[in-house]
Amino acid sequence: MTKTAKTKELDKDTQKKLLQLNDFIAGSKVLKDKQSLLMGVLHQTQTLFGYIPATAMDFISHKLGVPSAHIYGMATFYNYFQLTPKARYQIYLCKGTACYVAGGARVLDKLKEELRIGVDEVTADGLFGINITRCLGCCGLSPVMQVNDDIYVRLVPEKVPAILAKYRRLGQPKKKAKATAVAVGGFEQPGK
Ligand code: FES
Repeated sequence: MTKTAKTKELDKDTQKKLLQLNDFIAGSKVLKDKQSLLMGVLHQTQTLFGYIPATAMDFISHKLGVPSAHIYGMATFYNYFQLTPKARYQIYLCKGTACYVAGGARVLDKLKEELRIGVDEVTADGLFGINITRCLGCCGLSPVMQVNDDIYVRLVPEKVPAILAKYRRLGQPKKKAKATAVAVGGFEQPGK
């Protein structure tokens, strides 16, 4: 890839990944079907960056001659693709019918208020990300939320600050998150 003025402005890590992406695109251009080509390129982008940054979308658009809007549409259509970097603790709040009826929306409001981010966003320190998911399979214990591998059930907004505080403690240097915990009616320390 010829280095353009634009790529020079990017940090070294991003430049390196874009060069790798460029090689991948060059090797994939034998694919005649543009949809398949784009799908493969998006997969590779997520493998390289961990998500699909806007810079990469612009780069792909330029390289494949596909409008950025089309690439964005494809990346948002498939749940697999992420448009934001992954947080250390990914929160998945269930928005299935049972959880919604049981007050899931109030729990979501509390999460947003506490973390000062919206859905599909990550806190500035990279610690938390809020995501919405479909039924987690424990509707009888709704509202339900998953944080990485830990499941929290029968949630009420008042429990949210303590749950977040626990992960903030775990996220501090020299403290490691342990194994999965399943909590009923509240939460338990992982591994206890
Ligand atoms: S609807 Fe939330 S767990 Fe099923």
